[in-house]
Amino acid sequence: MSAFLRQFFAVQPVNTSANTGDGRLKRALGPWALTAIGLGATIGSGIFVLTGTVAANHSGPALTLSLLIAAFGCGLAALCYSEFASFLPVSGSAYSYAYATLGEGIAWFIGWNLMLEYMLSASAVAVGWGGYVTNLLADAGIHLPSQLVNAPFGKLENGHLGLTGAVINVPAVLIVALMSALLYIGVKQSSAVNTLMVMLKVGIIVVFVLAGLSFVDTSLWHPYVPPNTGTRGHFGWSGVLSGAAIIFFSYIGFDTASTTALEARRPQRDVPLGILGALVISAVLYVAMAAVLTGMVPFQKLDVDAPVAVALDAHPQLSWLGTLVKLGAIIGMTSVILMSLLGQPRILLAMADDGLLPPAMSRCHPRFKTPHVATVVTGVLAALIGGLFPLDVLGELISIGILLAFTVVCIAVLVLRKTRPDAPRAFRVPFAPVTCVLGAIVCFGMTFWLPWDTWVRLVFWTALGYSVYGFYGYQHSRLRASVRGEVAPGTPSRVPE
Ligand code: ALA
Repeated sequence: MSAFLRQFFAVQPVNTSANTGDGRLKRALGPWALTAIGLGATIGSGIFVLTGTVAANHSGPALTLSLLIAAFGCGLAALCYSEFASFLPVSGSAYSYAYATLGEGIAWFIGWNLMLEYMLSASAVAVGWGGYVTNLLADAGIHLPSQLVNAPFGKLENGHLGLTGAVINVPAVLIVALMSALLYIGVKQSSAVNTLMVMLKVGIIVVFVLAGLSFVDTSLWHPYVPPNTGTRGHFGWSGVLSGAAIIFFSYIGFDTASTTALEARRPQRDVPLGILGALVISAVLYVAMAAVLTGMVPFQKLDVDAPVAVALDAHPQLSWLGTLVKLGAIIGMTSVILMSLLGQPRILLAMADDGLLPPAMSRCHPRFKTPHVATVVTGVLAALIGGLFPLDVLGELISIGILLAFTVVCIAVLVLRKTRPDAPRAFRVPFAPVTCVLGAIVCFGMTFWLPWDTWVRLVFWTALGYSVYGFYGYQHSRLRASVRGEVAPGTPSRVPE
């Protein structure tokens, strides 16, 4: 085997991981804060924006089934994440799990794809946030110039990417800058703001479900799976499956607690609780909301960016809820942006500790105890991407990247069971081989129901990632240096403060 391949598949020894916490970050998070971090990162544009188009174009009233299928795949992946989080409580999440089991090259692929989950999804949701805020301001009679609230690059009528005539999406840039500033100051402050926003958005969803329940007309749920229109993915069972793949976006983020293991007070126990708790709570809320939504108006009418507003408009007795729900959507998206921007720097920190990224990325602020350099870099990049590109160009790439990361985590648990069968962990995946294989099949299977051009974008994204690895990570890998005896294994690549 060539030296490159040996390095590509080299596995990081778990007990010598550099990233085990050494007081650089503050251990301030308990089980509720961790669950709130997951909920904060999860409930946002997916449920408030995407549900309408998925019901109208793919699943019909079976939107609830699409949500359950996506939740099933996420649930299997969540169990696998939980076993890893209780075994290896580090900040790198799936990146570190893959490094410890499948080798550096696969870990790099996962770390690179996690940038989609965190940094790019912050940008994408910031674009949705800007849309809602602009709309709310317009309701109040304040009209912002369209060149300053839209992306300069977008899909043109011919389907190609081109210039739209806009200058920059200012609201998207501003919200990313504001959330990054909060994260710079401290994880405790950020977590407190997030917990407040989670309570508000969950409360607003519960009020919508309870108020809408008495306006549900169950005849609108029939036929539950409308017949296929002749096009793959438009109603019928293929519609339900492609709806599941698209609505998967709304669950992205439930695993964010796994990036804060170094800031959790009892990571082995509480991080799995945070991951599973966030997924279960969001799945219950989503299915309830989707059932009420499709029972309040015919699903054909939901093909809009604000489906909940359409459902409320159909029942004038509920008009008082309109502004509250818009506010809920804005709060929901704000916390998704905040929590996504929280996760990304922590993964960069783990990758920099391993030498795969420049050491500055693992610098932590001596007073605030946050990875401040990585936080600023993430904020600047996320603001630029959110300011320049529209939502649809970003969304599907994010989903495919994360589904592949989930697939790898499910496989990695099987490898862990073989290589470290007796190592202690607080949580074990029940019925392990079956659960893990099923998780990998469901998550990988969902990728085939996304539009084909998503795969093309993924190939470009992966090629870019491996170019960066070839030029930097491969050369500076600390695992490689430790194999050559140049550094002691597990020495963090910190630069002095
Ligand atoms: N799950 C997140 C959202 O729906 C990304 O906004």
